[in-house]
Amino acid sequence: MSNSHSSNSYTSNLYSPDIINQAKQLLSKMTLDEKLGQLSQISSAGAHIPHDLADAIRQGRVSSVINEVDLATNNELQRLAVEETRLGIPLLIGRDVIHGFKTIFPIPLGQAATWSPEIVEKGSRIAGEESATVGVNWTFAPMIDIARDPRWGRIAESLGEDPYLCSVLCAAMVKGFQTNDLSSPGSIASCAKHFAGYGASESGRDYNTTNIPENELRNVYLPPFHQAAKAGVASFMASFSDLNGVPATGNQWLLKQVLRDEWNYQGLVVSDWESIKELQVHGLSASEKDSAYLAATAGVDMEMASSCYIDNMAALIAENQIEETEVDQMVLNILQMKFALGLFENAFTEPSALPELLNAKNLEAAKEAAQKSCVLLQNKSRHDDSPVLPINRGATNRIAVIGPMAHDGYEQLGTWVFDGDEKHSVTCLDGLIALAGKSVEIEFEPVFSTSRDRNIQNFEKALELTNNVDVAILYLGEESILSGEAHCRSTIDLPGAQVELIEHLSQSNTPIVLVVLAGRPLTLQPILDKVDSILYAWHPGTMGGVAIAELLFGDASPSGKLPVSFPRVVGQIPIYYAQKNSGRPPTEESFVFIDDVPVRAAQTSLGMAATHLDTHFSPLYPFGYGLSYAEFEYSHVNISQHEIKLGCAFVVTVTVENKSDVDAEEIVQLYVRDLVGSVTRPVKELKGFKRLLVKANSSVDVAFEMHTDDLAFYDIRNQLNVETGDFLLGVGANSSLELNVPFKLVN
Ligand code: BGC
Repeated sequence: MSNSHSSNSYTSNLYSPDIINQAKQLLSKMTLDEKLGQLSQISSAGAHIPHDLADAIRQGRVSSVINEVDLATNNELQRLAVEETRLGIPLLIGRDVIHGFKTIFPIPLGQAATWSPEIVEKGSRIAGEESATVGVNWTFAPMIDIARDPRWGRIAESLGEDPYLCSVLCAAMVKGFQTNDLSSPGSIASCAKHFAGYGASESGRDYNTTNIPENELRNVYLPPFHQAAKAGVASFMASFSDLNGVPATGNQWLLKQVLRDEWNYQGLVVSDWESIKELQVHGLSASEKDSAYLAATAGVDMEMASSCYIDNMAALIAENQIEETEVDQMVLNILQMKFALGLFENAFTEPSALPELLNAKNLEAAKEAAQKSCVLLQNKSRHDDSPVLPINRGATNRIAVIGPMAHDGYEQLGTWVFDGDEKHSVTCLDGLIALAGKSVEIEFEPVFSTSRDRNIQNFEKALELTNNVDVAILYLGEESILSGEAHCRSTIDLPGAQVELIEHLSQSNTPIVLVVLAGRPLTLQPILDKVDSILYAWHPGTMGGVAIAELLFGDASPSGKLPVSFPRVVGQIPIYYAQKNSGRPPTEESFVFIDDVPVRAAQTSLGMAATHLDTHFSPLYPFGYGLSYAEFEYSHVNISQHEIKLGCAFVVTVTVENKSDVDAEEIVQLYVRDLVGSVTRPVKELKGFKRLLVKANSSVDVAFEMHTDDLAFYDIRNQLNVETGDFLLGVGANSSLELNVPFKLVN
């Protein structure tokens, strides 16, 4: 059944022979001290250069500075490096430009909800260009950790649960930051992080242990990183986390065997913040010197923030623990990136050569991204099932705007916003007022001071207001600080007294629209029948308010789809669509809810399936889910051949009809199931998707060009391989679709 057809080898041409030669020539002139200096990344002091930093640069002990965003300071740092050191080697200036620099785009999880490589690429391009105006030339993005646990705060920074969606969007981000020419104005180096497995932290607690069997690691967690390498990402960051007993930063198997030998990756590998030093805290090493040894021999080229390398490497070489040639390779990896960035030609930044910050084009792109990231989860009146959205401007005289997220330019920006400024944000309230037109009266009642507030003193006022309007819009959710690094939660309900507020307001007959601004999936089950519509807006960034208002008024139809499954209750986590079938998959027929379990029922009477007793086995909303103002119907799912020879191409076609009177974009999704494998296979895997416009009352024929290699997976020997046998596929609107088109792969 098995056929070693696909190969996982890939020859990267990250740098031209010319660049490699230039780096080698420079290396040949360097003293050992100068080489060791190239391994060191130092934290900035913030818009000034302390004497010790200036001296360290002059002595060639600094290769890179992290977190300096003052233009004059960066130019002076470069001047010191270029003009006052023996060899004039310029600096890498690193910064976490994660979802925008000044023009803030939706958090990456929100960007993933657009399912649009074009939007993601444009967002990264703008982020890169804006950060380049202050001298940044290296960002620590994209973050491509597969995230299947919404308790984990960094899910906000991720591209969601699925290796395929994440891989496609990752490549788009790399292209956006780097373009096709790293040395062109506004291009900056990107970094695939955190290699690898960080997203699987036990119980969703940041920095926690991860235990991931090699087969799962290769099939789920590594593919986006492999894709990043193929896309030419200029650097990788080793995760701080423990991977199967060996923290990634000291993990030779991961950084040498997989990254260098199997993938032939030739770029730079940087540690995470002090992650070399932390090898000692993990208990992998007994001293900083040991830590330096472990990280260097594993394949980490540059040390971020701590100083284990620079303090110990000379001794390690003198004691013959590390060969100088190993250090040479590390230095080469770093120098090549500096040459590729064009820093040796010009290390200085002249912002007038780049587009203006926050220009109209950038703001428009941020708005488009936010608009396409919003996911409509529910849209029917709790009284008569009719749709409540879009709001009919003509028939609406008064709107209540309620909630702490409605008019807070800071909280809508999300996590990892070092450089954005709330004063540029268009809040939800501002956006609504701007779009409503003069005849609509809008009244605002925040009720709470923050999303965590438990003070209920304004509940009555809010209810009265709700009673007196045509529609009440509640902007609730989570503040920025509740997601992101080291901001994990053990419950993921709407925090504070927000659920109580919704319950209170639901006494009113007025239609209630809930707009959720949050950095992760929240458990919304308790409030579903208390509101009419739910629009999930993530943390949408600078232009979120306009984007959301346009959707609420129907100037555009919501078109985002979930990049991650939404659990009903936290106890279902991890819950993801590409699960294994198990030997006892649950069915609707066998499922018995806890309240219906007969008292003293026989042990074996209850279906004996992989379920919880107290919640349905499905997620609240599946991966890929999202409603529209249009109504789409899928038909004629066909495959070009039902028997396909390994190594051949095939085409999957479908017709998507928009049966409504509104034009709208739809994200068409192709899923496949490999029925029998040498290792068990997921019940569904996303293998293709397309975002496309389907005009009102018309249909579009969609074709997915596929190849049998697209069905490769890491098999029982952990080799990338395509196995012959039976498959099913389906094309539809989300991952809950039924797969009912059979096909076969044959030799
Ligand atoms: C994070 C990285 C980040 C680095 C530099 C670390 O704490 O894990 O993702 O790039 O800091 O800011």
